[in-house]
Amino acid sequence: MSRGLFITFEGLDGSGKTTQIKRLAAWLERHWQSRLATCAASPAGAPEHTLSLSKAFPELVEGGVASEAWDAKSSLVLTRQPGGTAAGDRIRTLLLDSRSTALAPMTEMALMFADRAQAIAEIIAPALDAGKIVLCDRFTDSTEAYQGGGRELGSETVLELHRLICGNLQPDLTLLLLPSLESSLHRARRRNERVSAATGQDEGRFEQEQDAFYRRVWQKYHEIAAREPDRVVCIAGNLSIDEVHEQVVEAVAERLLTMGQGD
Ligand code: TYD
Repeated sequence: MSRGLFITFEGLDGSGKTTQIKRLAAWLERHWQSRLATCAASPAGAPEHTLSLSKAFPELVEGGVASEAWDAKSSLVLTRQPGGTAAGDRIRTLLLDSRSTALAPMTEMALMFADRAQAIAEIIAPALDAGKIVLCDRFTDSTEAYQGGGRELGSETVLELHRLICGNLQPDLTLLLLPSLESSLHRARRRNERVSAATGQDEGRFEQEQDAFYRRVWQKYHEIAAREPDRVVCIAGNLSIDEVHEQVVEAVAERLLTMGQGD
């Protein structure tokens, strides 16, 4: 079966995921295809932005191994959870509105999985079957970190539901952004105030949680990264947007290379 590449982004609220997903999508669209084409045709004539990557991944450039795989899988799909489908957007409103304070933790977890099941059926599985690259802002690691860790429902319950509801679909690569807890929270709360003031939209239910909640989420993300080092690339510390982007690109390029060799 032809299968694309499933990449998820994870991290605390305010960790910069959204910016990084957009940068990666733009990089994939603008540079990757032209880089392989240019380098395969004339390595010496490769433009500046391709050179550092060609140094890091000479086998890509010399063999051009990934270019055919990439050509066949050139479509990108961007999505986010919760949300991304018509039903999912309605679930998102229910989940993130800070007036929904009465949601029991189990209800919250069930809604996250309801949203995910719909996204898999409608968006993710068809795209992967068609050989596309799917970039997804949050997936089951978020449920394990927030509901399993933050709400203390435990990893086992989350993973069991994942097996049952999501057919155990696993990302090929997860980019986990973990700047310091303090700076993430500060950014998330500021962003939420700005959005509420500008649009009247209220998505601040999670940002209102106490620091202890976020410490548990943070801890659970570390546990996931330690448990699954082959899948999860953890980009930690307070790095600049460009520095994080560079690490993201390196990790993705490596996966594309593997994918090219496997074909
Ligand atoms: P969002 O505005 O998308 O935040 P961010 O841009 O930081 O991703 O809100 C998503 C919120 O939902 C975020 O606080 C994390 C939470 N969440 C869970 O608690 N469990 C989940 O399974 C998912 C997908 C998200």
